[in-house]
Amino acid sequence: MNRHEFLRSLHRVYRPRNYLEIGVNDGRSLALSRVPSVAVDPAFRVVTDISCDVHLVRATSDDFFARKDPLLHLRNGRNPFRALARRDPLNLLGADPKLELSFIDGMHLFEYALRDFMNVERHSRWTSVIVLDDMLPRDVDEAARDRHTKFWTGDVYKVAQVLRRYRPDLLVVEVDTEPTGVVAVFGADPDNTVLKDAYDTIVEEYVVPDPQNVPDEVLVRKNAVRPEALLGAGFWPALARARNLRRSRSAFAPLRRSIEAVTV
Ligand SMILES: C[S@@+](CC[C@H](N)C(=O)[O-])C[C@H]1O[C@@H](n2cnc3c(N)ncnc32)[C@H](O)[C@@H]1O
Repeated sequence: MNRHEFLRSLHRVYRPRNYLEIGVNDGRSLALSRVPSVAVDPAFRVVTDISCDVHLVRATSDDFFARKDPLLHLRNGRNPFRALARRDPLNLLGADPKLELSFIDGMHLFEYALRDFMNVERHSRWTSVIVLDDMLPRDVDEAARDRHTKFWTGDVYKVAQVLRRYRPDLLVVEVDTEPTGVVAVFGADPDNTVLKDAYDTIVEEYVVPDPQNVPDEVLVRKNAVRPEALLGAGFWPALARARNLRRSRSAFAPLRRSIEAVTV
């Protein structure tokens, strides 16, 4: 299954009510969305029919997230009660839209993708699904920071290593999609500052010159699940329902076990 077929099926099984895309290019992944969307790319050239209500932003993801109210487009209409909304932790007024499905496919360098994840997580909650593309390079050349191949993953695969090491509270699932694999992250916690606090240390350790030392288990996709197995798992309706119930993060534990069951 290729990454676009995976994304299409993810929209079908998870039924997100909004979508964020970082890295749009010609619009082929954005074309799969049918829900209010925000899509960010400094150099998009969309040539595909788009079927969603989209705010297309010509900017780098860093500049986009530095804006005052980046997800304005996803808010439930203009809210006249802004001051009140700030004291609305359950977001009952819909003033702080939480991302439901995000696809990170922008700049293919580790530190950029890590920042994209951190920024996306700040606008997500534990019921959100965050997908990162190009996480399973097939060889060391493809994983080079200095691009010299047709298919290019860069060294973004390291984001999964960092999340597992620094954020064991997240569930990081490698998915065996063609051509270069994706990772789905569950259990986002917008209040967690571990990555922000350790960002400089992480970059210092993980950003190294080519050639990259890609672990064998990444190259042979040792821990990657079949996309069909993940998409066909039974937890999706419960995850989607939990969005509406606004349950606290403690409700993630039983769902986490169901998702993990697919990965063994
Ligand atoms: C692999 S393409 C995206 C493909 C698209 N998601 C799809 O599946 O059809 C990567 C895109 O990321 C964009 N990009 C590069 N640097 C970026 C940045 N800092 N922020 C956001 N997008 C960026 C590039 O302009 C390029 O169009």
